[in-house]
Amino acid sequence: MGHWALDDIAWDLFDRSKLDPGIVRIVKAASLVEYNGGAYAHHLCRIFHDDPDFQRAARCWGEEEIQHGRALARWAALADPSYDFAAAFDRFQTGYRIDFDTDASHRGSRSGEMIARCMVEVGTSSYYSALRDGVREPVLKEICRNIATDEIRHYKLFYRTLTRCLERERIGLWGRLRVALGRIAEAEDNELAYAYYAANETASPYDRRRCIRAYARRALALYRRHHIRHMVAMVFKAVGLAPHGRLARAATRLAWRVLRYRTARLARVAA
Ligand SMILES: [Fe+2]
Ligand SMILES: [Fe+2]
Repeated sequence: MGHWALDDIAWDLFDRSKLDPGIVRIVKAASLVEYNGGAYAHHLCRIFHDDPDFQRAARCWGEEEIQHGRALARWAALADPSYDFAAAFDRFQTGYRIDFDTDASHRGSRSGEMIARCMVEVGTSSYYSALRDGVREPVLKEICRNIATDEIRHYKLFYRTLTRCLERERIGLWGRLRVALGRIAEAEDNELAYAYYAANETASPYDRRRCIRAYARRALALYRRHHIRHMVAMVFKAVGLAPHGRLARAATRLAWRVLRYRTARLARVAA
């Protein structure tokens, strides 16, 4: 049972005059990735095969990710009545496949798996916070507010589980950093690019680089410095570093500079 339901959203407040076509495109892509998120719960249940409490929490988590997909898809269909979510999701699943049906974590250990899951929730919580703060359309704002709150709670679930796993598994700072940085580097992987393609482009062939750029151009422009600060603090906490120390402040400055450089470059390429 999730913390909110689709019927809690004030859909009748939808305001077409406040739509941004670029936002509609990235929301469609997000609806596919979120709706697919539930498939990972099964994988987590296999990795934690002897932990029924975590399995229950992982199934609830999966249900919430699916609900995020449903809410975003419903909003996207209001914004663009020609959006066929079922057909887009079908295209996405056909073109993007990952083998989740294994009981071994790709991250080498349960702790590694939890660090990777924390990184995903860091990415989603800051993304939906940035989207919530950056969009003008009130219904999308409300959906993003709900989703961002869920994503923070998901981070806390995986962080708590990580703390438990670390009592048995010994992973030092470098090992934790390696998993975290590896997962952050994957953030712009095929999944988002293909979701953008499956949701928005049906006529032309798939061009990964072009789709990543199109997605990132609109998405990265939403971030403000405080979103990055929060993001760095959550990453630092998950790898065992002080979330608000000098190193975290330096990392925030660097990440903010890199982000601004990339945003400006993407805008120049598009011009
Ligand atoms: Fe989500
Ligand atoms: Fe999540």
